[in-house]
Amino acid sequence: MNKKLRKAVIAGNWKMNKNRAEAKALIEELKPLVKDADCGVIVCVPFTDLETVLAATEGSNICVGAQNCHFAPSGAFTGEIAATMLTEMGVEYVVLGHSERRQYFGETDVTVNKRLRAALDAGLKPIVCVGELLEQREQGVTAEVVGMQTRIALGGVSAEELKNIIIAYEPVWAIGTGKTATADQAGEVCGLIRATVADLYGKEAADGLTIQYGGSMNAGNAAELLAQEDVDGGLIGGAALKAPDFSAIVAAASK
Ligand code: 13P
Repeated sequence: MNKKLRKAVIAGNWKMNKNRAEAKALIEELKPLVKDADCGVIVCVPFTDLETVLAATEGSNICVGAQNCHFAPSGAFTGEIAATMLTEMGVEYVVLGHSERRQYFGETDVTVNKRLRAALDAGLKPIVCVGELLEQREQGVTAEVVGMQTRIALGGVSAEELKNIIIAYEPVWAIGTGKTATADQAGEVCGLIRATVADLYGKEAADGLTIQYGGSMNAGNAAELLAQEDVDGGLIGGAALKAPDFSAIVAAASK
């Protein structure tokens, strides 16, 4: 982290977990534990929990995000949610391009870019996920893959709009596997992402960008990962489902 240059942000991605009662209980437990956080705190919850979580977090320092949005403003897209439907509810953030969307739901770099456009136009703050597969890391093309994902996602995005974007580096092989990238690996790729952004927007814009690491980040390894200059926070899956675990990561980012 480099808190002089940019904001540290810990975001929980609850994925497809927690019904409304469970969501409310988790937020109520979390609120006192993170109230003095010296970093941004976001929970990205299932669509069906948004209303409950927005109400439960009102007046607190916990911000609320969704986990996807469609690129069209409205229309015949059964099962999809438009970006403006989220902002109308009061949702502030949205996760885009998560590897699970890419892997199971046909998300591509191009559709991530389209969703990013719609999210920005609606006034949402996107958390854009990039990351290589295990095979790609083994073939030595991590830098190329992550650089390309970053460039395509940011196509058509202005420097002013970049200020509302967070990028999350999530190596696919580390997600839900208990296999964390080493701090050096995480720091190296987050640095590569920043260099790509510097190439597109200049050094100052890149220095101000929050870049998170995600993939089996937990209370035990958070401090070491966050000690990397270019790792400005975390996108947390499994460990975001328990208040003590999530708040311990928030505490590590608050140091
Ligand atoms: P885990 O923390 O469960 O590995 O998930 C990471 C992730 O995918 C967050 O978006």
